[in-house]
Amino acid sequence: MNLRLMSITGCLFLLGVVKAQQNIPVYLDTSRSIEERVEDALSRMTVEEKVAITHAQSKFSSAGVPRLGIPENWASDGPHGIRAEVMWDEWYGANWTNDSCIAFPALTCLAASWNPEVSYLYGKSIGEEARYRNKNILLGPGVNIYRTPLNGRNFEYMGEDPYLASVMVVPYIKGVQSNGVAACVKHYALNNQEIDRDHVNVNVDDRALYEIYLPAFKAAVQEGKAWAIMGSYNKYKGEHCCHNQYLLNDILKRDWGFDGVVVSDWGGTHDTKEAIYNGLDMEFGSWTNGLDWGASNAYDNYFLANPYLKLLKSGEVTEKELNDKVRRILRLVYRTNMDHNRPYGSFGTKEHALAGRQIAEEGIVLLKNDRNVLPVNLNKVKKILVVGENAVKKMTVGGGSSSLKAKYEVSPLAGIQSRVGKDAEVTYVQGYASPAVKEQDVKDAKVPEQEKIDYAALREEAVKAAKGADVVFVVGGLNKNDNQDCEGDDRKSLGLPYEQDELIAALSKVNPNVVVVLVTGNAVAMPWIKNVPSVVEAWYGGTEAGNAIASILFGDVNPSGKLPFTFPVKLEDNSAHALGEYPGDGENVTYKEGIFVGYRWADKQKSKPLFPFGHGLSYTTFDYGKAVADKKVISKDDQITFTVTLSNVGNRPGAETVQLYIGDKKSSLPRPVKELKGFKKVYLTAGEQKEVSFTIDKEALSFYDDTKGQWVVEPGKFEAYIGASSGDIRSTVGFELK
Ligand code: GLC
Repeated sequence: MNLRLMSITGCLFLLGVVKAQQNIPVYLDTSRSIEERVEDALSRMTVEEKVAITHAQSKFSSAGVPRLGIPENWASDGPHGIRAEVMWDEWYGANWTNDSCIAFPALTCLAASWNPEVSYLYGKSIGEEARYRNKNILLGPGVNIYRTPLNGRNFEYMGEDPYLASVMVVPYIKGVQSNGVAACVKHYALNNQEIDRDHVNVNVDDRALYEIYLPAFKAAVQEGKAWAIMGSYNKYKGEHCCHNQYLLNDILKRDWGFDGVVVSDWGGTHDTKEAIYNGLDMEFGSWTNGLDWGASNAYDNYFLANPYLKLLKSGEVTEKELNDKVRRILRLVYRTNMDHNRPYGSFGTKEHALAGRQIAEEGIVLLKNDRNVLPVNLNKVKKILVVGENAVKKMTVGGGSSSLKAKYEVSPLAGIQSRVGKDAEVTYVQGYASPAVKEQDVKDAKVPEQEKIDYAALREEAVKAAKGADVVFVVGGLNKNDNQDCEGDDRKSLGLPYEQDELIAALSKVNPNVVVVLVTGNAVAMPWIKNVPSVVEAWYGGTEAGNAIASILFGDVNPSGKLPFTFPVKLEDNSAHALGEYPGDGENVTYKEGIFVGYRWADKQKSKPLFPFGHGLSYTTFDYGKAVADKKVISKDDQITFTVTLSNVGNRPGAETVQLYIGDKKSSLPRPVKELKGFKKVYLTAGEQKEVSFTIDKEALSFYDDTKGQWVVEPGKFEAYIGASSGDIRSTVGFELK
C-alpha cells in the first residue's frame, strides 16, 4: 500500500477512534479523572437511584445503578480473612463450595510483630482474597484501643498504644487497597467494650480522645488513605457514632479531610434525619444485631431508603447531603469495581497460607524462658506430652463476625506432631474441656446438649501422663466461646477459664519442664507463673497456626514478637478497673482514667505488670549500648536523632524491636511518664551489631491541650527512653526544647 494511502488510512482510523471516544460518556471514559467521572455519573442519576445506593439491598451488598452500568457494592467481613458467602437476607452461610478462605492470624498477632512490612504483606494477601471473591469493601481492619482486658473483641484489634496501632494499620490498608478493594477501618470510635455496645454513651475527655482513641483512625485516613470507615454502635456526646456530628462531620470529614465512605455498623443506624445530616453515607444491617438476627426484607424501610425519599419528595430536605453521600460512594466504586486496571486477586493459595504463617511466626511472643527449656532439642527430648483442648480446637471459627470457613487449619498438636515426626514420641491428653457451642453462620444451629465436664478426672489423667514426659506443652488460653474472645459480650474475669490454672499448677508439681502455650487474643492472669519455666503467647494464628507454633517451640524460628498490650497481674491493676468505670451503668461509661491507659497507668502507679507492653524474649541475647543524641538543646522546628548500638551477643540470629519512648519532665497538664514514639525491628546474625537511630520532631513532644482545643508543645526538659520494652529501659538521654 503506498505511503499516501497509508497516511489517509491512518488519519481515518484516528478520526474513528476520536469519534468513538467522543461517544463514550464521561462517567465511563477511563481516560477521564475519577472526579470528572463522579460528577458526570451523579448528573445522570435520578433521586431514586441516588437514594438506592446509600443503603443495603441485602445483608452485605448495596445497590449499583443498573441503568447506567454502575456496579453494586459488595462488603465482606472480616479483618482476618474473607467470610464465607452469607445468604442474601439471612444470617447464615449460603453453603457455597468455593469460598473456603485462608485464615490469617488475628490482628493482635499482627500488632505483636511490630513489623510494618509484615502488615503490608497481610493487607496485600487478604486484599487479594477479597478481590478474587469480588468483594470491593473489606470490613476491617479494627483499631479500637485495648482499654480493658475483658473486651470480647480485643483479639480483632491492635493493642493499647495509639502510636503502635497507627504505624501498623497504615500498611495493612495500603496492602488491601493495592488490589482495588476498599479497606473499611473500624469501629469509629470508642467501641472499647462489647457490654451495651449498641447504645452505651462514652464520656471521655478530649485529651484521651485525641491522644489515645483517635490517632489510629487518623493515621488510617490521612496516611493509609482508607476509602471507607465504619461507624461504631455506641454513642459519643449522646449521638450514635454511625451518625455523629462531632466524629463524622467535624473531625473525620472537615478536620481530617476524609473523602471516602462512612459505612454504618450492622444495625448501627437509628434515625433518618441524623443519618442524613450527621455524616452517614451507607446504611447496612438496620434492624439486625450485626450477628445473628434481623428483620427480613426491610431494605426499603431502611432509614436512608423510603423514609429519606419521602423527605426529598416533600421538599423537607434538599439533595445537598444526598449528593455528597452519592459522590463518596461513586468515588469508592471508581476506586474499586470500576477501576479497569486493578489486579484480579487470588484465593486460598499456598502463598497466602505461608504469608499467614510468617505473620504468626513474627507475632508469637516468648514471655518467659527459664533454664532455656525452649527451644526443645529433639536430640535430647524423646517423650513429649501435649495437654489442653486448645491444642486441637479449631480457632478460625466463632468469635462473632470475624468467624471464617478456612480452607484448612493446622492445630498446635498437628503442627507439633508434623514437626517432630519420628524424632520423639508425642502423646496427647485433653487436660481440660470447654462447653460445646452452637456453630456460627449455620441455619437453625442448636446449642449442643452439654455433657458434664469432669475437670478433676481430665486433670488427673494429664498429671499421670506428665510424670514420664521430658517436656509438657500445655496448650490452653481462651477460645471463641461466649464471654471469651468473642463479639457481642465481654469476658467476666482476667483468669483462664475451664480450671486451667488448677491443671497447670498440678502438672508443674510432677514435671519441671512445663511449657505453657497461650492461645488467646487478650491478657490472662497467671497465678502459676512462678512454677513454670516457659510461657509463649501464640495468639490466634489462623490457617498455619500449628506450624508457626511448632517452628517457635523447636527453634526453627527465633521468636521476635513483642506484646501490644500490658499483661496485668490482676484486673484491678488495669486503670479502667482501678477507677471503677467499666462497663458503666448501662447507659453511660466514663473513661475516668483519661489518657492513663495500659503502660501509661502502670508507669503512673509505679506498678510492675506481670508482663509489660512491648515485652518479648528471644532465644538469643541483645545488648544495648549507651544511647546518644545528636543535640542537647533543640528549637521547635528542629529534629533530634537518638542512636544506640544494638549487639546480638548470643549464638544465633534473631530480631529485636528497639523501642523509643519520650517523657516530658514538666508540663502544664498531666502527662504519662513516657509514651511510645518510635520503634525499629532489627535483624542481627550472631555476633553482629548495628547502629539503630530514631529521628523525631516536635510532634513527638506535643500533647493535646483540651483547654485550648489544640496540640501544643511546651519548652523544657524531655527524656528519651530506649529499651526492649516499656518495662525494660536500657538507656536514657535527656534533652531540652528551647
Ligand atoms: C458486626 C460487627 C462488624 C461487622 C458487621 C458485619 O456487628 O460489629 O465488625 O463487620 O457487623 O458483620
